[in-house]
Amino acid sequence: MSEPVVGGVAERFKELYGAEPEGVWAAPGRVNLIGEHTDYNDGFVMPFALPHVTVVAVSRREDGVLRLHSEDVEGGVVELRVDELNPGSDKNWTAYPAGVAWALRDAGHPVTGADIHLTSTVPSGAGLSSSAALEVAVALALNDLYELGLKGWQLARLCQRAENVYVGAPVGIMDQTASACCTAGHALFLDTRDLSQQQIPFDLAAEGMRLLVVDTQVKHEHSTGEYGKRRAGCEKGAALLGVEALRDVPYDGLDAALARLGNEEEVRRLVRHIVTENHRVEQTVALLEAGETRAIGPVLVEGHASLRDDFRISCPELDLVVDTALSAGAIGARMTGGGFGGSAIVLAETTDVDTITKAVREAFAAAGFTAPRVFEAVPSAGARRLS
Ligand code: GLA
Repeated sequence: MSEPVVGGVAERFKELYGAEPEGVWAAPGRVNLIGEHTDYNDGFVMPFALPHVTVVAVSRREDGVLRLHSEDVEGGVVELRVDELNPGSDKNWTAYPAGVAWALRDAGHPVTGADIHLTSTVPSGAGLSSSAALEVAVALALNDLYELGLKGWQLARLCQRAENVYVGAPVGIMDQTASACCTAGHALFLDTRDLSQQQIPFDLAAEGMRLLVVDTQVKHEHSTGEYGKRRAGCEKGAALLGVEALRDVPYDGLDAALARLGNEEEVRRLVRHIVTENHRVEQTVALLEAGETRAIGPVLVEGHASLRDDFRISCPELDLVVDTALSAGAIGARMTGGGFGGSAIVLAETTDVDTITKAVREAFAAAGFTAPRVFEAVPSAGARRLS
């Protein structure tokens, strides 16, 4: 984030609240390379941070008041009391920062109020974790200012709790951990059971490749409906198979597990996706570690087919990105994130990027879909203090 942006956020804070902020922090959005819907099954994921960030300017208060302002939303400063924060009561953007303050206090941390001003370059509703970026930026700021000494993974857990309980969205732990813990030039291989992490070097440009994000502009909504149904279906599968989580079904035990599920057709499909997807994450890690980056292309494509056919969370726009990109020469492509809209990723030779981008734009126009937003994603830094 450039100095003028930091300065702008601090200046705006001063206009709003009458004094300089104590500090400015940033937390990024993410894309997920592979490992979708595995995080609430104790499985593996592999996200990396985007250069797009939420920037927060924050000062402490000691009078129990939480003042919130977003440059990106109309409506002025919202004032709440930290001892009156009530899970499930807020349906606006303010539920995310308020939820973080609530989760910290609920865990026994002495947060006595704050003035917060923020702005974000993470597209919202695009499956790029704008919510997690907002939560983690606020959590990191409060962690520093109140000297709580919490580590990145602990902040991620608290942010997930804020989203699950305060906002009411049954999401897993991937997005918050990605925003808190990713490092530039790497993808994060995360075991969501114990949050153990490995930073995997992922420098595509050095190998003559690029990763594009194609935002279909189809908005998704996680707090309602289909996401929760998939999660409940996976939990049912684990219960029927007598395991703690679907992570515990080994890849070479998949056929036996499916046979045990008999005619539970829908659960069988969900189980098949989760077990094969965990395997694809492990394959991807092995290929990247062996320097065989191009060989991950077919793994990404299989992942998309599994999300489309077994997990059933793709949509015509996402399928069109993947099919068109592959026909135009992409190495691999898949939807990324929660699904039902949002974004796809495309892995391509640098020399093919323009052809592929043009083909996707033309296919969308021909289908009568809203024009997609296409940008290159470079693995960027996780959450940090800027000033
Ligand atoms: C959303 C959720 C994550 C994860 C993905 C799907 O981004 O927030 O926890 O479940 O969907 O992989």
